Amino acid sequence: MFPIERPRRLRQNETLRALVRETHISVDQLIYPVFVRSGEGVKEPISSMPGIFQWSVDTLTDHLTKVFSLGVRSFLFFGIPSHKDSQGSHAYNPDGIVQIALQSVKDRLPQAVLIADLCLCEYTDHGHCGILRGNTVDNDLTIDVLARTAVVQARAGATIVAPSDMMDGRVKRIRQALDQSGFDEVPIMSYAAKYASGFYGPFRDAAENTPAFGDRRAYQMDPANRNEAMKEVFLDLEEGSDMLIVKPAMPYLDILSDVKKSVRVPVAAYQVSGEYSMIKAAGLQGWIEEERVIEESLTSIKRAGADMIITYFAPEYARWHSEQ
Ligand code: PBG
Repeated sequence: MFPIERPRRLRQNETLRALVRETHISVDQLIYPVFVRSGEGVKEPISSMPGIFQWSVDTLTDHLTKVFSLGVRSFLFFGIPSHKDSQGSHAYNPDGIVQIALQSVKDRLPQAVLIADLCLCEYTDHGHCGILRGNTVDNDLTIDVLARTAVVQARAGATIVAPSDMMDGRVKRIRQALDQSGFDEVPIMSYAAKYASGFYGPFRDAAENTPAFGDRRAYQMDPANRNEAMKEVFLDLEEGSDMLIVKPAMPYLDILSDVKKSVRVPVAAYQVSGEYSMIKAAGLQGWIEEERVIEESLTSIKRAGADMIITYFAPEYARWHSEQ
């Protein structure tokens, strides 16, 4: 009888489809990025990211307590400092905003995984990811400051540090500094393949880190390059990275898939602000079924090879799934 192969046999109803489903998302593997600023009682909407807010330490701690109870237990911290300068010195101030937030959330939720984003762009008055010499970011000066910042973050209670600057040699320098300060157990989750992407647009509103001049193409990767991603990945692993991030996620699923096939460490994909906001905007217009598209986007990222997904949808996703 023709046809012999009828793949539709296994698609007849939801129970059967669930039985043969290849990709599953677990809330255990979602990481929720958050923005914290000074003040009290702050819950400031970010207009280009509906549903995402800048928080003060008190409101953030309460918010994350609720999110934790939904099953999302890993958080990525970004800070908006009260003071910016050419050196980004607030980044390594022990009383800096992220440090205080880490302490507060750690006190409330000792079991949570607290990941500190490690970069200077939120802290420099020029908005670049490092220390300038003339109009360029000086690599080696920058990695010293990042290493110093990593130690301060670890001391404040960061479970993991996540360098997102894309300087060369930073993982090694950070590892040395952590080890010398007694933090040899703090893992490094490096943004190994981070592209110079237009999809970060809304984040720049959220984190207030738009470069005052130029752009980040002299340190972040060219979106056209695929081999170079593997070069970056292997360098980070040699230098001591424990986990890797590919960023953005959906436009770079080929890279994610390459990376996952080539390494033996956990790989995260960062579904960035622009990916979030495009789905939200189209959803609000009624142009797409938002919930369905969120599920599909996360599934595609998982299917391509992500072990973990950094996503602003984490609490929403967890909420629907806890109600089911
Ligand atoms: C820089 C940083 C950026 C993001 C995370 N870390 C922005 C940039 O490189 O300009 C973007 C995240 C997002 O868009 O959601 N430290």
